[in-house]
Amino acid sequence: MQVLGIETSCDETGIALYDGERGLLAHALHSQVALHARYGGVVPELASRDHIQRTIPLIREVLAEANSDETKIGGIAYTAGPGLVGALLVGAAVGRSLALAWDIPAVAVHHMEAHLLAPMLEPDPPDFPFVALLVSGGHTLLIEVEAVGHYTLLGESLDDAVGEAFDKTAKLLGLDYPGGPALAKLATQGQPGRFHFPRPMTDRPGLDFSFSGIKTHAMNTIRKAPSDPQTRADIARGFEDAVVDTLRIKCKRALEQSGARALVVGGGVGANQRLRAALAGLAEKTGTRVYFPRAEFCTDNGAMVAYAGYRRLQAGEAVGAGFSVRPRWSLDMLRPPTRPTR
Ligand code: KG4
Ligand code: ZN
Repeated sequence: MQVLGIETSCDETGIALYDGERGLLAHALHSQVALHARYGGVVPELASRDHIQRTIPLIREVLAEANSDETKIGGIAYTAGPGLVGALLVGAAVGRSLALAWDIPAVAVHHMEAHLLAPMLEPDPPDFPFVALLVSGGHTLLIEVEAVGHYTLLGESLDDAVGEAFDKTAKLLGLDYPGGPALAKLATQGQPGRFHFPRPMTDRPGLDFSFSGIKTHAMNTIRKAPSDPQTRADIARGFEDAVVDTLRIKCKRALEQSGARALVVGGGVGANQRLRAALAGLAEKTGTRVYFPRAEFCTDNGAMVAYAGYRRLQAGEAVGAGFSVRPRWSLDMLRPPTRPTR
């Protein structure tokens, strides 16, 4: 079965076509970074308007690249949440309408489930069960995963998400939106150890996170320190090391607590090289394995939505003729794929 995936939850329009037998056939992405850059963050109304303009042309592009058309597509997967309500509505409306017009089923995909399953698109995919670390702009989650839809929340951020902490600290350092990759780049020039940042909530048991303290620490450090380029790079390095170390400590704990032998990483911050190296080191030391999506599938994309939708459509799940979006939608509310009730 070929599944068309549509991702429009935030500031990227992602479209992909996934085939159950042949794997990923084609994917395309339009990033709105340039559109939002001068505002220093995502402007929801501009995001929705841009998704409206991009979605259909990108679908055409992907179908042409895969040499496919509506006669070959067996289902449509669209991100229904969590995310920006107006942005989500674009993908949901387009996806649901195409499914009606083409007389095929549609499925509503949870954006974080899509991130969680993204490593399954790689040549050496993980087996269930595993622990997932999901680190994006809006979420920091540690999850015990038994199967698709069997999720137990082990820990989450009590305040800022990791990506948010990266973005806010980057802004304080005078870097452009989106700050995460820019801060990581600056940190490569930094000297480790010159600035020490706290590792929040690692000195007590538990798997929850808190990143707002690190951000405040960054603010105070930046205010007091000289503003030369080397100092800024050293601060970026101190911040990144503290975040990566905190995530590594909590992942180690989650693996021990759950007894799982595999760790799966998803979400935009999963593209961070220092995090990838730290978690690879953890896996080597503990005799476990770590799985990452390729960097372009860590950040938002249509491929992960097509894949997550495929897993649910294949098991018979589909939404009814109407559709709705869920801007706030907790991952542990998800259930295994189900057949429609009507
Ligand atoms: O998953 P994602 O693309 O969108 C959401 O679902 O939120 O994640 C975006 C987040 C942003 O906060 C961005 O700054 C961060 O991921 N990010 C990074 C890196 N690449 C993206 N943070 C640190 N290092 C990176 N290389
Ligand atoms: Zn995301």
